[in-house]
Amino acid sequence: MNVFVTRVMSKESIEYLKQYFNVKINEKEKTLSKEELLENVSDCDAIMCLLTDIIDKDIIKKAGRTKIIANCAVGYNNIDVEEAKKHGIVVTNTPDVLTDTTADLAFSLILGVSRRIVEADSYTRAGLFKEWGPTLFLGQDVANKTLGIIGAGRIGKAVAKRAIGFNMKILYTKRNRDETFENDTSAKFVDLDTLLKESDFISIHVPLNKGTYHLIGERELSLMKKSAILINTSRGPVVDEEALAYALKSRRIWGAGLDVFEKEPEINKELIKLSNVILLPHIGSATIETRGKMAMMAAQNIVEVLNGRAPINPV
Ligand code: GLV
Ligand code: GLV
Repeated sequence: MNVFVTRVMSKESIEYLKQYFNVKINEKEKTLSKEELLENVSDCDAIMCLLTDIIDKDIIKKAGRTKIIANCAVGYNNIDVEEAKKHGIVVTNTPDVLTDTTADLAFSLILGVSRRIVEADSYTRAGLFKEWGPTLFLGQDVANKTLGIIGAGRIGKAVAKRAIGFNMKILYTKRNRDETFENDTSAKFVDLDTLLKESDFISIHVPLNKGTYHLIGERELSLMKKSAILINTSRGPVVDEEALAYALKSRRIWGAGLDVFEKEPEINKELIKLSNVILLPHIGSATIETRGKMAMMAAQNIVEVLNGRAPINPV
């Protein structure tokens, strides 16, 4: 059987797949175009792909032999799951293994924005540090503040766990109340508007779907404190980027830390000009350990499904 891998992934995962299957890998350090994807999927029994591969209706229809699409990401908004289901194709993702890694990045942004780390580093490198100053790069405290978690799933809860060490008060939204989480963290279940009004830091951890597109827009930004800091490590389109750029520019809110963008890799021109936002190139899960585990997990799902067994991580 044939497995198509859309980008170079960990050696271990590829070697594991090669024990069972013919493996074809896109060796270019570049995402394949739709045409290239179409060319490659027609004879493969499994596709191992990344969040940058748009697996839409056309690709799925062309993938006539495919039994499984294993996404190397926890988010799977890049795949038309409904269409895959119609064709009897299993879709899998990589939950759990990236939870702590992504939560660490979200917390890095909380600290980085509040203490203006990136701005201060640029200042120092530019040779502008001439003397210590009592008002030089004044930021905001993190300890003892209120953290609002929008979407207390695996990653949101891991961010909350970190916040406990900073003695933060935690508010959260979620489809259903989570009493175990409340008992573990003293987090308080609130509606979105209350969370926006009362939080000093707001961190987004919802998946992207029709219900979360532009969940944070002009109205929501206008409810936040003027001192609020917004962190997004989920998916770009959850935030209306133009409205956010305006809120940051007009100092309607204090700052933001973004690892994801509405039209990745394109970034709103206004955002790039602002110093009160940290911009990262979607590196939430980017550690040596975690990327290795993600690739291995995707490979394991392929091995299971092509050997006639149930997938480990179906979406
Ligand atoms: C990364 O963004 C992921 O969904 O794994
Ligand atoms: C700061 O460097 C202090 O000593 O207070």
